[in-house]
Amino acid sequence: MIEIRDAVPADAPAISRIALEVQRLHAAALPSVFKPAGPDTFPPPVIEARMTTPGHRFWVAVEDGAVVGYVAATVQHEPESPWKHAATVCTLDQMGVAEHRRGCGAGAKLVDAVRTAAAAAGATEVRLNVWSFNEGARAFYARCGFVETQARLWLSTE
Ligand SMILES: CC(C)(COP(=O)(O)OP(=O)(O)OC[C@H]1O[C@@H](n2cnc3c(N)ncnc32)[C@H](O)[C@@H]1OP(=O)(O)O)[C@@H](O)C(=O)NCCC(=O)NCCS
Repeated sequence: MIEIRDAVPADAPAISRIALEVQRLHAAALPSVFKPAGPDTFPPPVIEARMTTPGHRFWVAVEDGAVVGYVAATVQHEPESPWKHAATVCTLDQMGVAEHRRGCGAGAKLVDAVRTAAAAAGATEVRLNVWSFNEGARAFYARCGFVETQARLWLSTE
C-alpha cells in the first residue's frame, strides 16, 4: 500500500537518491544541458533547506516504511501586471518515483496531493514544465489530466 505524507527532514537522503535517478535520465537525454548526476545534484542539506523555505512543500510516497517517490511544489502569489491578472500560482517543480516502483500508482497519488494543496491555497491549477524528450513523463502527466498550454521553442545557432 502506497501512502502519501508531507516530507520531513529525515526523508531528505531518500529524496536525494531518487532525484539522482531523475537527473541521470535528463543527463542521458540532454547532456549539453544537464550535468551528470553526482553528489552536488540535489544533496540532502539542500533538500532540507528547501523544505523549510516559505512557499515550498515536499511530499513523499511511502511503501512498507520506505520512501519510493517524492514531489516538490511551490505556491506563489503573482501580483497583477499591465498584461496579467494577479494569480496564486502552484508549480510542480520536480517529481520522481524510484525506478523499481514506477507504474504502481505512486506518481498519480503524489500529483493528487499537490492538486489538493493547490486548491486549498487558492490556485486554480497546478502548472509544470516538462522536457519534450521525456515521453514517459508527458504521457503520465496527460493521464493525470494536465493539458498543454504553452510551448518553448529553441533555434540552434550551430
Ligand atoms: C513520471 C513518473 C513520476 C510517473 O510516476 P509513476 O508512479 O510511475 O506513475 P503511476 O504509476 O502513478 O501512473 C499513473 C498513470 O500514468 C501512466 N503512466 C505512468 N508512466 C507512464 C509512461 N512512462 N508511459 C505511459 N503512461 C505512463 C500509468 O500507466 C498510469 O495510467 P493508468 O491510470 O491508466 O494506469 C515516474 O515514472 C518517474 O519518476 N519517471 C522518471 C522521472 C521523471 O520523468 N520525472 C518527471 C520529470 S518532469
